[in-house]
Amino acid sequence: MSINWFPGHMAKARRQIEESLKKVDVVIEILDARIPYASKNPMLDHVIGDKPRVVVLNKKDMANSKETDRWIARLKADGVYPVALNGKEPNVLKKIENTVVEATKEIFERMERKGINPRAIRAMIVGIPNVGKSTIINNIAKRKVAKTGNTPGVTKAQQWIKAGTKMELLDTPGVLWPKFEDESIGQKLSLTGAIKDNVVNLDDIAIYALRFMQKHYLDGLNKFYNINIDEDTEIVEIFDAIGQSRGFKMSGNEIDYERVTEKVIYDTRDAKIGKFTFDFAGAEE
Ligand code: G4P
Repeated sequence: MSINWFPGHMAKARRQIEESLKKVDVVIEILDARIPYASKNPMLDHVIGDKPRVVVLNKKDMANSKETDRWIARLKADGVYPVALNGKEPNVLKKIENTVVEATKEIFERMERKGINPRAIRAMIVGIPNVGKSTIINNIAKRKVAKTGNTPGVTKAQQWIKAGTKMELLDTPGVLWPKFEDESIGQKLSLTGAIKDNVVNLDDIAIYALRFMQKHYLDGLNKFYNINIDEDTEIVEIFDAIGQSRGFKMSGNEIDYERVTEKVIYDTRDAKIGKFTFDFAGAEE
């Protein structure tokens, strides 16, 4: 499910998240490891203030592992506490717990010095749709918590759930809106499934994906589709080559470009062609 984000939705989401933030010691921001920049919500930095922040690069199983390492280094340098995860794996709780403990160490040491009784660390999960918030909450809670859907902000009846021995988590995540800054961000969000396909032109998404692979993953692209293109091949010729190779033809032996487009998008989104990170941690783009 996807929703349309209107200014009213955004204002409501912001208010609800600000309210929830008051209850927690630490925010766990979930990003898609394939697009750590594009999957960041632009408002969060403003409302989070100086509250400690754990940044989860989720879906690391679908991202380029070297680039994920670079993102981890960059996020550390930015003063947040990053951790890369596959949200479906059994070690998620331990990894998040360790990072949350590290991020809140100073707060709890301060409380101890003031003689305040130790209590569980309170955390909340936030992120744009489809980055894996529910998957991670369910995994940590070791049960299926209520499906929140991708409604803006947070749903009303929030409860604390025990997450391991050191942490308590709000059971409903804060749902943030995606960036609407420029076309390439929309294409990346769409390519990874964060926004609904019909928001962005499908041809443009496939072209973006093919150009990316032509530049960064030529051999893998050739091998996967059993084609033979080089770095200078025109985009329409790449579509033709894939259509030929897969037998996507219409009557009159014309290439069925629509089928090629869909195939390229789904193969890329499902990381079948390779593990790609579309946002670079360094300057390269
Ligand atoms: P959300 O709450 O942030 O909106 O995201 P949600 O947990 O619903 O996850 C969105 C999709 O991403 C789900 O797939 C989920 O299984 C998948 N996912 C979450 N974390 C990971 C991960 O670390 N690696 C991989 N490969 N996939 C992940 P779906 O196809 O929409 O649903 P399902 O059929 O898998 O349940």
